[in-house]
Amino acid sequence: MKERPIVSEQEMLRQREFMKLVKAMDIRPQSYHIVSMGCQMNERDSESIAGMLSEMGMAAEPVRENADLILYNTCCVRENAENKALGNVIWLKELKKDKPELMICVGGCMTQEKGMAAMMKKRYPFIDLVYGTHNLYKLPEYVYRVLTEKRPVVEVMDIDGEVVEGMPERRRNHFNAFVNIMYGCDNFCTYCIVPYVRGRERSRTPEAVIAECVRLQDEGAQEIMLLGQNVNSYRGGGAEFAELLYRIDKLGIPRIRFMTSHPKDLSDELIHAFGELSHLMPQLHLPVQAGSDEVLKRMNRSYNREHYLELVGKLRAVKPDIGLTSDIIVGFPGETLAQFEETMSLVRQVRFDAAYTFIYSPRTGTRAASYPDDTPYEVKSERIQRLIDLQQAISLEVLQQQVGERETVLVEAVSTRNAGAVGGKTPRGHMVNFPGDASLIGKFVEVEITSAGRNTLRGRQIMTEE
Ligand code: 5AD
Ligand code: SF4
Repeated sequence: MKERPIVSEQEMLRQREFMKLVKAMDIRPQSYHIVSMGCQMNERDSESIAGMLSEMGMAAEPVRENADLILYNTCCVRENAENKALGNVIWLKELKKDKPELMICVGGCMTQEKGMAAMMKKRYPFIDLVYGTHNLYKLPEYVYRVLTEKRPVVEVMDIDGEVVEGMPERRRNHFNAFVNIMYGCDNFCTYCIVPYVRGRERSRTPEAVIAECVRLQDEGAQEIMLLGQNVNSYRGGGAEFAELLYRIDKLGIPRIRFMTSHPKDLSDELIHAFGELSHLMPQLHLPVQAGSDEVLKRMNRSYNREHYLELVGKLRAVKPDIGLTSDIIVGFPGETLAQFEETMSLVRQVRFDAAYTFIYSPRTGTRAASYPDDTPYEVKSERIQRLIDLQQAISLEVLQQQVGERETVLVEAVSTRNAGAVGGKTPRGHMVNFPGDASLIGKFVEVEITSAGRNTLRGRQIMTEE
């Protein structure tokens, strides 16, 4: 991974000036609503966006229709993500008819796609601001320009990307936090658009990452999730990812997790970290994508089935109760029934705690988009349904094995389905719901697991004597 320039402090100060200028304006949006689509990296970006908009004097508005500024932070990893984003944005045109002063902003991965910004400028002139993934830090300047120039601003930078430090932020909560450690991806899996829209791999320095973790710890963080498209190829200031983890573990934040890992870069040092680091949770998201060597090769994944299974064996030798989850693509161009069966058999063999399954979606500009693909969509649908059924049965068995166990749960929220219950995760990453109220949010609670549902566990709080 190459060293990448850091956006200068001077530039960040310039953006702070724009925040002040917007804040001082008489006529400007007073409230904002952000719609964050896609992955955790986008969610983390949305926290920076919220920080910048707050600094501009706007208040968070939970109801989209009531906000003066609506911002879509988009995803384009699969076609349906893109369609959803576009559908939503087109609908805003109607809203703007009733509320002409509404400011509509669209950014994130979709706008960074080749030709997309130009298309949006032409077809959706009611959008006030279109920006990409590499210039998010310039949001204050762009908002200022929209307000003063009174015409749409469309700015997408076609560069490999830089590292940005020092953006304001407004976090979702104080107890569990996302921390970016690297950006971009150089792997060019043949189906994936990410390397095209997120640019080349670049890492933050260990010092910047650790300073952020320390700050979050001071603010009460109980859990941090280290984020990167491919965390295993982290190379900040020459340090490898495993070294960074050892340093972060020493800080004493109770729980550390990370995602996403590429199997080709999962080092022995990192595997051993699961046995050695007291704060690293026994959970790993390790996307396999397919169980057939032939398909893996055409996906350009750089590992084969045997290597993946070997990694799983090593991980379980170090940490027998590690919770493994995965991403799997069904119906990659040319996937035969026999090759799909190899994915099924791998899933049976590994027994993931959970798997996110996707039907292959061609993405313009990627290599696989030009591969011949003659499997009918119905056949792909049948295959994915078989895979989902299999994984659900395995997930249920894994969850049932937890019944009767005592677990420490970090409570995240009041249950959406039941106001008298709260939910949080076990160290292995299983979601547990149990009777309780909002006062428990952000706290560790001892819970006995009483039953298993399809995707979550149920439990009851164990009352300890003071
Ligand atoms: N089609 C289907 N799934 C995809 N993913 C990435 N690109 C595509 C695509 N073109 C899946 C992969 C990846 C996850 C984030 O999304 O499984 O791990
Ligand atoms: Fe996409 Fe592959 Fe990079 Fe993951 S590792 S973001 S699947 S190109």
